[in-house]
Amino acid sequence: MNKSIESLLNDQIGYEANASMHYLAMASWADENGYNGVSEFFYNQSEEERAHMIKLVKFVNERGGKVVIPALDKPKPEFESLNELFEDFLRSEMFVTEQISHIIFECLNKKEYNVHNFMQWYVTEQLEEEAVARTLLDKLNIIGDDKSGHYLFDRDINAIATSVDQE
Ligand code: FEO
Repeated sequence: MNKSIESLLNDQIGYEANASMHYLAMASWADENGYNGVSEFFYNQSEEERAHMIKLVKFVNERGGKVVIPALDKPKPEFESLNELFEDFLRSEMFVTEQISHIIFECLNKKEYNVHNFMQWYVTEQLEEEAVARTLLDKLNIIGDDKSGHYLFDRDINAIATSVDQE
């Protein structure tokens, strides 16, 4: 495997791992603050990001590359509001999408077509995750400060996320 592509994939392992821990911190904050639906959503997101990381680890190993598991950033432990939580979620997903686009661009440059092909799964996944994050943030922006709106959002979040995924 081309060394610069190997290095980008190792970076991506770190981004997915950071996202997983970041979402775990979000899940825990939501749990602590009584948002059971939101916490379940982020516990699941955290698991998904871990799965994205493992998929990359296995792929790099299968292709004869060297995986270097990175140190992780300390996730933010406190949030002011549900809006802040979901703004961070969308920002994090947009960042990951940008990095994946960069890997794909470099794969074409370096003629690493197998990696390019493998990364298409991540492109599709990111499209879905960004759509979910945007939809949930739009709903929260409509709700504003309305406490009963937050109650319903928390109750319905997993149904909303699933319906976006199926579009
Ligand atoms: Fe695996 Fe949503 O980044």
